[in-house]
Amino acid sequence: MITVRTIQELRSQIAGMKKQISKPEVTVGFVPTMGYLHEGHASLMKQARNKTDIVVLSIFVNPIQFGPNEDFESYPRDEKRDLAVAEKEGVDIVFIPSVKEMYPQPTKTTIKVAGLTERLCGASRPGHFDGVTTVVAKLFNIVQPDFAFFGMKDAQQVAVLSQMVADLNMPVTIVPCPIMREDDGLALSSRNVYLSSEERSQALCLSRSLSLAEKASKERPDITIGELRSLVTAEIKKSPVAVIDYVEILTFPGLQPVHEEQKLTDLEDVIVALAVKFGKTRLIDNHRLQKVKVVSHV
Ligand code: PAJ
Repeated sequence: MITVRTIQELRSQIAGMKKQISKPEVTVGFVPTMGYLHEGHASLMKQARNKTDIVVLSIFVNPIQFGPNEDFESYPRDEKRDLAVAEKEGVDIVFIPSVKEMYPQPTKTTIKVAGLTERLCGASRPGHFDGVTTVVAKLFNIVQPDFAFFGMKDAQQVAVLSQMVADLNMPVTIVPCPIMREDDGLALSSRNVYLSSEERSQALCLSRSLSLAEKASKERPDITIGELRSLVTAEIKKSPVAVIDYVEILTFPGLQPVHEEQKLTDLEDVIVALAVKFGKTRLIDNHRLQKVKVVSHV
């Protein structure tokens, strides 16, 4: 595994590796991260390793996607451990640029995906998604991957980036990957380290509420969106320290609101998306309620 810190070296290493592999079409798989890697990130690297010839991982805590009062400075970092995780997953190249390498001068170009970024985390974190789309577009231009792997843990990010790639004809396929959870259901996140043990046990209300939604969708497919939302909200409110930022039920991947009176049976796939604060830590989680496809036996 090679570690590179400059764009120039990254490009020359990728070009060199492509020449070494004797195949007509060598594919590059890319996993962008902000580091402090866990099994969720590792699952993306595994998929990339299975699907592509050259696997590139980036570790970059991107300042422009953090708001002024957010945790950019204190975001957890552990390069040594991250490199060990990447090595174990068979990554070929790790790209760890400095802020100066990525932004030698303040960027005057911003990519904005309208329509998908105003709700959910876009509403609570103004400018966040412009920072994400801008850095991911830069990273795509730098790495030039054929496939890029993103976790459904950040479902809105997947929807926004898929739209960006389609709108701008970027020659890359976005591969959405399932959410990885601890055995007790808590979705893995670099920010889980901020939780006290009390907050961590209370945070289990997120996955519990999503499991309830899944169960209700199977047992009562004619449940309304309003009823579903009440069910999820009530479960979260059982936790005394939980402060709800949002509990939203939207279409996926369009992320459009649905009327409270509408029945689940009348809709295509919807996503139940949550953002809840436990103490100072804001956690997100979600679950996609997939429509059961009726198979006709002709
Ligand atoms: P980061 O939060 O480090 O996440 C990197 C990737 O790991 C994202 O695609 C995220 O969805 C995925 N991931 C995180 N937790 C996961 C889990 N429990 N299961 C599956 N996948 C998980 O997302 C970012 O960084 C940044 O916004 C980035 C895209 C790198 C741009 O700066």
